[in-house]
Amino acid sequence: MNATRRDVLRATLGAGAALLLPAGRLGAQPGALIERPIPSTGERVPVIGVGTARRWEAVTTPADRAALREVLRQFANRGGKVIDTAPSYGAAEEVAGELVADLGVRASLFLATKVGATGRRAGIDQIEASFRQLRTSRIDLIAVHNLRDTATQLRTLRDLQQAGRIRYVGITTSFPGQYDDFARTMRAERLDCIQVDYALDRREAAATILPLAADRGMAVMINLPFGRGRLFEAVRGQALPPWASELDCASWAQFFLKYIVSHPAVTCCVPGIASVQYLLDNLGAAQGRLPDAGMRRRMEEFIGRL
Ligand SMILES: NC(=O)c1ccc[n+]([C@@H]2O[C@H](COP(=O)([O-])OP(=O)(O)OC[C@H]3O[C@@H](n4cnc5c(N)ncnc54)[C@H](OP(=O)(O)O)[C@@H]3O)[C@@H](O)[C@H]2O)c1
Repeated sequence: MNATRRDVLRATLGAGAALLLPAGRLGAQPGALIERPIPSTGERVPVIGVGTARRWEAVTTPADRAALREVLRQFANRGGKVIDTAPSYGAAEEVAGELVADLGVRASLFLATKVGATGRRAGIDQIEASFRQLRTSRIDLIAVHNLRDTATQLRTLRDLQQAGRIRYVGITTSFPGQYDDFARTMRAERLDCIQVDYALDRREAAATILPLAADRGMAVMINLPFGRGRLFEAVRGQALPPWASELDCASWAQFFLKYIVSHPAVTCCVPGIASVQYLLDNLGAAQGRLPDAGMRRRMEEFIGRL
């Protein structure tokens, strides 16, 4: 690490935190994050957000909350916006709402949640609970979770959009087995945003879903960018290829995320993040050079050989 970069880290993280970052795992540097427009409005969001499944679900102690508060504080300070949560993620929605309110950063964030219920009344009740949990009068995006009762829930979401209580409407999946139904819904409905799984080693969404989203003018939020831990397992013990430096990648996480956000149809990606170390690492993927088509093929070939 050269003196300048170490100084930047010390200034931004404090010396103690800087020591926790291993050499070669440098995270986001001060400066702007790469953004993409949401096609239906042109509003721009940074390409890396925060996913709240799993780690945020199990929060119980004040220490857990304090750690996530620091993640959110630094995320907002660095220009981060998109937070993806869901009523089915245990404590996540409530914890996110409490911390956002406590930090006073609601206005700078883009809060995305989901509805996963069967029947109109159950959907409305769940959505109203999300407003309370997130402590906000306006939610930026609500998406139908995993195509559950899609037609009914979309009708409710459109009413709420009309009333100005939510800004964007969408659908999500993380199951390739749902892609045919998902694509049918994308063709039949006007949606602001779709959320789908896509990772360097699981690229099925690029065959139909991503090009369809581009054709239909829908924003794309990517879930499971690391396949949970799968990609890190695949490269365990291996150094980054030397050409990763041409993409300004200082870590495997940045390598995996830059592959995703360089897809022309992708608007943003929401890796699960519950530590400042991972936050800074992952935000680094929203800075510097991104792979072009040739480099993306090279990344695919690389992972295919493992
Ligand atoms: N159908 C849907 O709507 C749907 C489905 C799935 C997910 N999602 C959304 O997508 C988000 C992402 O999915 P996910 O969280 O399940 O999986 P993921 O983002 O693919 O992977 C999260 C895992 O990666 C690790 N990680 C994160 N940053 C890292 C870094 N820089 N270096 C090393 N390891 C790192 C985390 O480790 P630790 O465990 O150590 O923190 C965590 O185990 C979810 O949080 C949720 O918001 C939506």
